[in-house]
Amino acid sequence: MISHASQRAANSDRIAAEKQSQWLVTAFIASGIIFMLLPGTFLGVWNLIDISREQTLGSLSSAWLQAHGQAQLFGWVGSFILGIGFYSLTKMQSTLTFPARSGWAAWVLWTLGITLRWTAGVAAWHWKILMPLSAVLELAAFVLFYRSVRRHGPKSSAAGAKETWMLLVAGGTIAFLLALIVNLGAVIFVAARSDTPALPHVFDQQLILLMVWGVLVPTIWGFNARWLPIFGGLKKPDSNHLRCAYGLSIVGLAIVFLQWWAASAALLLFVAFLVVEALHVWEPAVQPAKLQGVHASFPYFLRIPYVWLVISCVLNVMAVRLDQSGGIWGASRHAITVGFVAGMVFVIGQRLLPAFCGMRTLWSPKLMLWSLLALHVGCALRVTLEPLAYEGYWRFAWRILPYSALVELAAVTLFAWNIFATLLQPPAHLRVAASQPIRGTTASLTQ
Ligand code: HEM
Repeated sequence: MISHASQRAANSDRIAAEKQSQWLVTAFIASGIIFMLLPGTFLGVWNLIDISREQTLGSLSSAWLQAHGQAQLFGWVGSFILGIGFYSLTKMQSTLTFPARSGWAAWVLWTLGITLRWTAGVAAWHWKILMPLSAVLELAAFVLFYRSVRRHGPKSSAAGAKETWMLLVAGGTIAFLLALIVNLGAVIFVAARSDTPALPHVFDQQLILLMVWGVLVPTIWGFNARWLPIFGGLKKPDSNHLRCAYGLSIVGLAIVFLQWWAASAALLLFVAFLVVEALHVWEPAVQPAKLQGVHASFPYFLRIPYVWLVISCVLNVMAVRLDQSGGIWGASRHAITVGFVAGMVFVIGQRLLPAFCGMRTLWSPKLMLWSLLALHVGCALRVTLEPLAYEGYWRFAWRILPYSALVELAAVTLFAWNIFATLLQPPAHLRVAASQPIRGTTASLTQ
């Protein structure tokens, strides 16, 4: 029988581990948001204004374009994945300890690596050393994360069967490791052979697809399979269809490296519809959504990103035949990175992160609504206007295009503001104790 004393010790270990993980996830989320805002979006807006002024994508340095993409994919979303991954370890019942040392070492290496990569790309300052160094630091950080997950993560059940959502998240984690290894090889090659700190164009596009379809998309599907029935009240996912969609998406991704663009695009379009069906995202909910602490529009914004996923895949199919100047590819990439990925991170993030980062409540549900509205309006403007302008179908589109970037900048600023304001307020239970008025309730935030 377990004595009261050892039960108490176990509880206090658990609380200590929970607190350590909350600090760490807060650090990853804060640095991720800073990467999103300045090196990511601000540079993206600057790039788009420049492209619109010159009226051609070719006017801009590839290194600058890639620095923006790296800051968003690895700096922003990558930091969120690492932070939430470390945090989730405390929720696995297999351990009472939290790998705090590995976690903080990973945060330092990752943040430094991303910063050096961006500096090397934008300033071209000692880039032949900084680019490979940054890739080594990023890989080292990820290896620390990966080892912690393997040691402290969920143990398979007796039958060895993993739930589907875990399978997708595990697949995304392995693809992340692969992307960082490929990235290291690529920057060593570029440092040895090239005159500019930019990856060759086709290879760069393949690496982006690996990151987007190999890492971000399956990770989102995995977390959606786990959380949408709980938070959105949706029907439980169809596991077989989801696994089938994931398998096909891997095939679609793999053949991109053989440059079978048309076959890949057709397959990914089919996959997008299959996932929509498997997750039941466009079907009516079977129970009420959990709206505590968030804006009442939450269930709608959970579904909209899947519209962007399908639009992105349709544009991808069109791009194979019609794209001449990068406008249709760009619109497709934007639909998936901004509409699907950022759309989902904004909506789920504002629901879950306040609780993960120290049992807080979201600072302002109204700001959540505005950030989401601005994001989708900005994305719609950009995805519509980019093919028209870049491909020369409608010259006037060049004039309106920069405004799409400003609307998106407003969206990310509102999101960042809401999260930072949330982090700066005391945890919900302390606020209740001090009888301060709180916005929303804390109940079931962590359910
Ligand atoms: C929010 C405002 C954003 C603006 C104004 C913006 C702007 C741009 C621009 C001008 C390009 C150059 C290619 C093109 O014209 O299509 C680009 C490329 C790219 N963007 Fe964004 N972007 C934004 C958000 C994002 C987000 C949220 C992500 C990822 C989560 C992202 C990922 C990328 C990637 C991967 C590329 C390709 C870079 C490369 O060619 O290596 N962007 N973006």
